[in-house]
Amino acid sequence: MSTSAHARRIAMVHDRVRPEEKLLMEALRNTGASVSTVYAPDLLWSTDTPTLEADVVLLRTLSHARTLALAKLLEAEGLTVVNSATTIETAGDKAATSAALKAAGVPQPKTFVAFSEAQVFEACEQLGYPVVLKPTVGSWGRMVSRLSDWDAVQAVLEHKSVLGGPQHQILYVQEHVNKPGRDLRAFVVGDDVIAAIAREGEDWRTNTARGAHAYGVDVTEPLRSVALQAAEAVGGGILAVDLLESDRGMLVGEINHGMEFRNSIESTGVDIPARMADWLNRPQP
Ligand SMILES: Nc1ncnc2c1ncn2[C@@H]1O[C@H](COP(=O)(O)OP(=O)(O)O)[C@@H](O)[C@H]1O
Ligand SMILES: [Mg+2]
Repeated sequence: MSTSAHARRIAMVHDRVRPEEKLLMEALRNTGASVSTVYAPDLLWSTDTPTLEADVVLLRTLSHARTLALAKLLEAEGLTVVNSATTIETAGDKAATSAALKAAGVPQPKTFVAFSEAQVFEACEQLGYPVVLKPTVGSWGRMVSRLSDWDAVQAVLEHKSVLGGPQHQILYVQEHVNKPGRDLRAFVVGDDVIAAIAREGEDWRTNTARGAHAYGVDVTEPLRSVALQAAEAVGGGILAVDLLESDRGMLVGEINHGMEFRNSIESTGVDIPARMADWLNRPQP
């Protein structure tokens, strides 16, 4: 397809350009869409004028707060924004994700959200040790802590209360899932799971940012079904759904709305950016 006067106008809004953004630009151009890139710090939204000349906006900014603000501002102008503000708001916050998964009946690790040390203690008593404590907004495994007794939990709570802002007073406590040394990740694009990987490493947190290595795995029926239910529960879009294999089956660990995929193209043999670009350029209903 070549660019025509009627080609869909797709704008990609970014800040730091990672290999992902370069690959996405190339893939978007290959669809024949009319593609532009916008450096978020150069944007100026106002009450008076449209912000962008586009039909579809792909948000690739890094910070959760900035991405959510952009989604809200641009959706209000009638643009199709991927991911949507609802999806970013829900997937970008682990407490909101757990709430959405609970409402939709999607399996997840047993999780408590508390607002006081006393209730964290109650959660830990119910779960048994080790427990996992996580910031509700964050990534790359940062500050995700596996704690083996109440002393350790108390120490983390004290650090949170002395160092942290209001967000760190939302206390997210989870059962430690005895997974087989790896996590699974399903790449969801719309209503399809286009690829899946496993991540395995020395650290119990199998983030590739912590040195875990990724390898492709089959998109099995249970993986596909749980991942699609999870994506739908948080509002859908382009999402990486992390799954923990447990003796209760697959549990949704978290859902990432700013999908990183550069280490997964070769290992899965799937041209992930091309699949994303094709979906963004699809005829709108
Ligand atoms: N409840 C849990 N049980 C076992 N491992 C977990 C649990 N929660 C997180 N992990 C491990 O820690 C990693 C980071 O946790 P995650 O919730 O994905 O936070 P982040 O958003 O920082 O990546 C996960 O990829 C997983 O390997
Ligand atoms: Mg993660």
